[in-house]
Amino acid sequence: MPEKNPYIVPSGYEVSQKKRADLHGHKPLLVWFTGLSGSGKSTVANRLEMLLHREGINTYHLDGDNLRKGLNKDLGFSNEDRRENIRRIAEVAKLFVDSGSVVTAAFISPFEKDRELVKETIGRNLVLEVFVDCPLEICENRDVKGLYALARKGVIKDFTGIGSLYESPTKPDMVIKTHLNSAEECAQLVLKKVLELIKLPQKNK
Ligand code: ADX
Repeated sequence: MPEKNPYIVPSGYEVSQKKRADLHGHKPLLVWFTGLSGSGKSTVANRLEMLLHREGINTYHLDGDNLRKGLNKDLGFSNEDRRENIRRIAEVAKLFVDSGSVVTAAFISPFEKDRELVKETIGRNLVLEVFVDCPLEICENRDVKGLYALARKGVIKDFTGIGSLYESPTKPDMVIKTHLNSAEECAQLVLKKVLELIKLPQKNK
């Protein structure tokens, strides 16, 4: 880590997060989906973004596989690289949240410590952590991308759930179960909660 530079002095912005929220008509929020590969994080998060968009909410979606093609293409899947992956995403999400958007983010984010860092970076009251709780056997059976088969063969050595740990969240804000409910039902459940959280207080007329 480079030493802290004492000559960097951040400037304040005249347009505040509150002013942006007032303009948009809703508060910002980060909806953080965590779970195994194949658990349905991206499917539910995508659906949620569309439902929010239709409600007239400013949204943006951040997704593991997509970010790893660009910003994070220099990172692999060691514990350290996963940590750096999540740290960068948290910083990106912070900018979007500050801009007033409701951000949906779908990352395995297997380590509790890294998910804590996300909450610290954004601010706990602006994060809704959603655990996509789908058993490993079901994710493996689905094997949408064929990666579990490669992990079992030993081609991918550090695959989450096989050769690398997934720490289930101990106190998530919400739990959804994509093996018991459809992606649409799960998205609707999260939508209800998000709409409550982003509501601005009514102004006295
Ligand atoms: S995280 O662990 O750092 O949070 P992230 O969500 O960005 O992971 O990326 C996960 C996606 O990368 C998976 O959905 C899968 O398509 C792909 N992937 C490739 N190698 C691995 C691996 N070793 N473990 C988990 N996912 C992998």
